[in-house]
Amino acid sequence: METKRSSFTGKIGFVLAAAGSAVGLGNIWRFPYLAAKYGGGIFLLVYIALGITFGFSLMVAEIAIGRKTGQSPLGAFRKLDKRFSFAGVLAVLIPALILPYYSVIGGWVMKYIAGFVTGNGSAMAGDGYFGSFIGKTGEPLLWFAIFIGLTALIVLLGVDKGIEKVSKVMMPSLILLILFISIYSICTIDGAWAGVVYYIKPDFSHFSIMTVVAAMGQLFYSMSLAMGIMITFGSYMKKDINIENSAHHIEIFDTGVAFLAGLMIIPAVFAFGGETALGQAGPGLMFGTLPKIFDTMPGGSVIGVIFFVMVFFAALTSSISLMETVVATILDKIKVTRTVACLMTLGFSLLLGAVSSLGYSAWSSVTVIGMQFLDFFDFLTNSIMMPVIALVTCVFVGFFMKPTAVIDEVESSGQFKWKKMFSVVIRFVAPVCILAILVSSILNVFGVISI
Ligand code: PHE
Repeated sequence: METKRSSFTGKIGFVLAAAGSAVGLGNIWRFPYLAAKYGGGIFLLVYIALGITFGFSLMVAEIAIGRKTGQSPLGAFRKLDKRFSFAGVLAVLIPALILPYYSVIGGWVMKYIAGFVTGNGSAMAGDGYFGSFIGKTGEPLLWFAIFIGLTALIVLLGVDKGIEKVSKVMMPSLILLILFISIYSICTIDGAWAGVVYYIKPDFSHFSIMTVVAAMGQLFYSMSLAMGIMITFGSYMKKDINIENSAHHIEIFDTGVAFLAGLMIIPAVFAFGGETALGQAGPGLMFGTLPKIFDTMPGGSVIGVIFFVMVFFAALTSSISLMETVVATILDKIKVTRTVACLMTLGFSLLLGAVSSLGYSAWSSVTVIGMQFLDFFDFLTNSIMMPVIALVTCVFVGFFMKPTAVIDEVESSGQFKWKKMFSVVIRFVAPVCILAILVSSILNVFGVISI
């Protein structure tokens, strides 16, 4: 592994690569349905507040740990403090659990590309289309297998250079397109404006602890935090690049895309179904709403194809970084070839992903603690495992490695303007809040309390 460790060429290279991992289905598919479900404007406010404090501090800490040690999470924690080796192990389990269900959604995106290409745009705009598609047994499985197979092929062949070039064009175009779709739908769909207000204006009566739980999980997920990915990226980062600025840029970029995706979807849902539709929002939100918007647009079927192709690329760059992390960890731990490591990851993902996919069809009557399989894996990783890793990272940095070690690493390549806030957040605010949130979300799921 060590011999293959290369560096990003410069700041832009680092920020773009990290942003490529960060911007994905999390922003376009997951953020809008959570924002819709957990209170609109108040969710947005909580999300941004958490991003500036927790998200920023954790991102700086992870990048600094990676750059200081020059290792992936397994090695990094071990090198800094043997007693914290377990954190590295736990961290790499998360991408392994996310990758399968992420690919199921990636498969749905491919199905929608195919649907628009074959001129089925209007049929897809019909009520219940999405539900009946995921309710089938074979077809979603097939799309999922294609998506994960493609990811594995790219990770195996290592043609990421090409992907990087493509995504450099795709990402900015995606943002422009999202902006265009938002403006179009807000201006042309009756009643959309009320949805914009719901999305942007915080209404404190919609606040609940679940707003914070969901916002925090989403923050980790969307910024690829609390699972060792930023540690790995940090290990590739050159010594003269300013960590603080990079963290700000990744956050602004990632949150910007998520915000726009919400603006594209939420007002339209509000116009079509009112506040009840928003309250019932779930993983199907994007797939149900967008075809409806495209159906009202002149040339909507072409825009539909372009849009879903771009989402597909955003998803692919993220699924590649998820799989690459798992494969790199296997290679660090056991003596197998890259091909075998890829096949192992593929096999495991196929099995676990199939469970998530079938959770909507053949096994729809089976639920785990009241959730469908896909929701369950999503909840397990985002609302339980990531907060645990985040907590351990904060305690480790705050009291064992000490914030000064991170501050020194950041200052070795420039200023660290927010270092006071960083120290306070990482030592006290973050651990206490994360613990409180973690405990309440677990108690809530098991029905001990209702929040
Ligand atoms: N951050 C990605 C997204 O928003 C998901 C992801 C998580 C990718 C972890 C890589 C690692 O879609």
